[in-house]
Amino acid sequence: MKTGIKDLPRCCFLSGLLLISLSFTIAIAADNTKNPFAGNAEAIKAGEKLFDANCTDCHAGDATGIAGPNLTDDQWTYGGTDADVFQTISKGRKGGMPGWSGNLKDDEIWRIISYLRTLATKK
Ligand code: HEC
Repeated sequence: MKTGIKDLPRCCFLSGLLLISLSFTIAIAADNTKNPFAGNAEAIKAGEKLFDANCTDCHAGDATGIAGPNLTDDQWTYGGTDADVFQTISKGRKGGMPGWSGNLKDDEIWRIISYLRTLATKK
């Protein structure tokens, strides 16, 4: 196909647009430091279901721990900020904590964290 000179601006405009939307997507995807569902009642319910389905074998139904540690106290081996806990769940930790980024979406991990925060405040 021959590309005439007058086709150029349109092609540049389109790829420019693509670049802009791409960088927005990356910016959103990269913000794994703040929980977008903090305190959200529906997210907490969904998080509880996800926790029950995936995490209770090792952390117990009430998250106080079996093979994995207690997640309801304020002791965090790998840090207790939203960013730390997200990283732990998403990527896993060397002492036997599997990474979940292949099985859970970022949004689902945040919902689990919302749920875990409600357990922590009960103490
Ligand atoms: C196969 C067992 C297993 C499963 C399933 C599991 N964990 Fe873990 N988890 C562990 C172990 C073991 C550790 C401790 C790792 C370490 O100390 O290096 C851990 C550590 C953690 C920590 C870090 C605690 C701290 O003190 O920093 C968090 C948070 C956590 N798990 C959350 C979860 C969530 C949420 C799920 C479900 C999506 C889950 N885990 C599923 C075994 C498991």
